Amino acid sequence: MAVTLKYHGHASFELTDGTTTVLVDPWFTGNPAAVVSADDVKADTILITHAHSDHVGDSAAIATRTGATIITVNELANYLSAKGVPNVAGGNHGGTIEFIGGSAKFTQAWHSSAYADETGIVAPGVPAGFIVRYGGLAIYFAGDTALFGDMALIGEEGIDVAVLPIGDKFTMGPSDAVRAAKFVGAKTVIPSHFNTFPAIAQDTDAFAAALSEKTSSKAAVLKPGETVTL
Ligand code: NI
Ligand code: MN
Repeated sequence: MAVTLKYHGHASFELTDGTTTVLVDPWFTGNPAAVVSADDVKADTILITHAHSDHVGDSAAIATRTGATIITVNELANYLSAKGVPNVAGGNHGGTIEFIGGSAKFTQAWHSSAYADETGIVAPGVPAGFIVRYGGLAIYFAGDTALFGDMALIGEEGIDVAVLPIGDKFTMGPSDAVRAAKFVGAKTVIPSHFNTFPAIAQDTDAFAAALSEKTSSKAAVLKPGETVTL
């Protein structure tokens, strides 16, 4: 069963096995890189790594429209539930939550997490990444994070595809992402969280070349709207 991954720009991804659709950090409205509207995507499951607005994005609206279940860190899950999102499932680092067609294991991420709503800044929970098991594959979405040595433990889980931030400034940059790739040991590395705005502009050709030179992973660099069959 092949899995198709579509990049929606920034850290927004869509997975499908032909039967179900999983969105990760679905941000369309206000995402300078997005080429489709939040009204036009399907979803059965939505994974949110942390509460920053560029990751929560359109999750609540899509989940409300489609009935999709949002899986995220417990405090953010409770927050979204209180805001009226019908189906939410909260978990935390080390835990696994099953969804239709797969599962998501919460990993740690070195970052921050806060959300601005009409009452001001709220801070629901801590940041996470996910090991998504879906369509026979293990796909590691690192989320927004710095490099950390325990990515080697994540690598021990047999990761096929790693989605790693390379933008620098708010996450690790390209050289740390190459080091991360070495720890994770995935066949394919998909860069994320770059080129959305000038502060995170990166040279993806240079990243892909460094990855090939220093690791056994190969980069699959996607433009917004592009897909890759995994
Ligand atoms: Ni963030
Ligand atoms: Mn971010």
